[in-house]
Amino acid sequence: MTLRKINAVIGLVTALLLIDHAGFYTVWMLSRGSIAKSADNMPMILACLVLVHALLSIAILVRDRRGAKIQTLESQTPKTQAPKTYPKQNIPTYIQRISGVLMLVLLGFHIAGKVTSFQPAILHAIIQPVFFAAALAHISVSVSKSMITLGIGTAKIIKIIDIVMAVICGVILVAALIGFHLCFFKGVTA
Ligand code: HEM
Ligand code: HEM
Repeated sequence: MTLRKINAVIGLVTALLLIDHAGFYTVWMLSRGSIAKSADNMPMILACLVLVHALLSIAILVRDRRGAKIQTLESQTPKTQAPKTYPKQNIPTYIQRISGVLMLVLLGFHIAGKVTSFQPAILHAIIQPVFFAAALAHISVSVSKSMITLGIGTAKIIKIIDIVMAVICGVILVAALIGFHLCFFKGVTA
């Protein structure tokens, strides 16, 4: 459980840094690059935290999967009894895992976009919006889960956090897509 709690704290800190990064760069894109970027290396700190968190999360999933397998073998439960599944309740977990893998695959392209000024254009026209959506979808379902892992908040508070996160991430995503296409088709003024 300790590893999961450490990962929950790292996930929460990373979520705050991501909202700061995505929030700022969305306004920057909407301004077509006319507002000054802060010269600090926060984006790189964000990228490093994401990689630490991703490795920890994968380690937790592998460990849990191994644990579940051993348990099944030990309990010798007959094969015919298929375990109950709750597909509707599992949707946030599917979103969390699929968006996590997508981010891991596309993060390099995201950073390369800055270095190459989003060339080749056709590649970045597809990859950057998908990356933005994956990152924001991931945190919109994950922040409440980390509160549960850390034992913070009641069921009502968790529900409120889910709604607030969905609204914040939805607004940032729509604004980021508008800003990205503004920069893409009208160019950056800086
Ligand atoms: C900005 C990037 C990211 C942020 C802010 C973030 C944040 C979070 C948070 C807050 C949680 C909940 C922790 C909990 O349930 O206790 C979480 C869980 C998870 N994240 Fe991320 N994450 C990010 C990127 C990634 C990436 C790139 C991966 C790729 C593997 C990933 C995979 C996972 C997985 C598998 C879980 C579930 C872990 C579990 O079941 O305990 N995340 N993330
Ligand atoms: C896992 C999440 C993310 C990570 C780790 C990340 C990391 C980075 C890094 C390292 C850079 C290069 C910064 C520099 O050298 O100046 C960057 C640039 C940028 N990021 Fe992100 N980012 C993430 C998510 C997002 C999201 C969700 C958005 C938008 C909603 C976004 C928008 C931008 C923009 C517009 C740039 C600047 C490109 C330029 O200067 O031309 N990023 N990001």
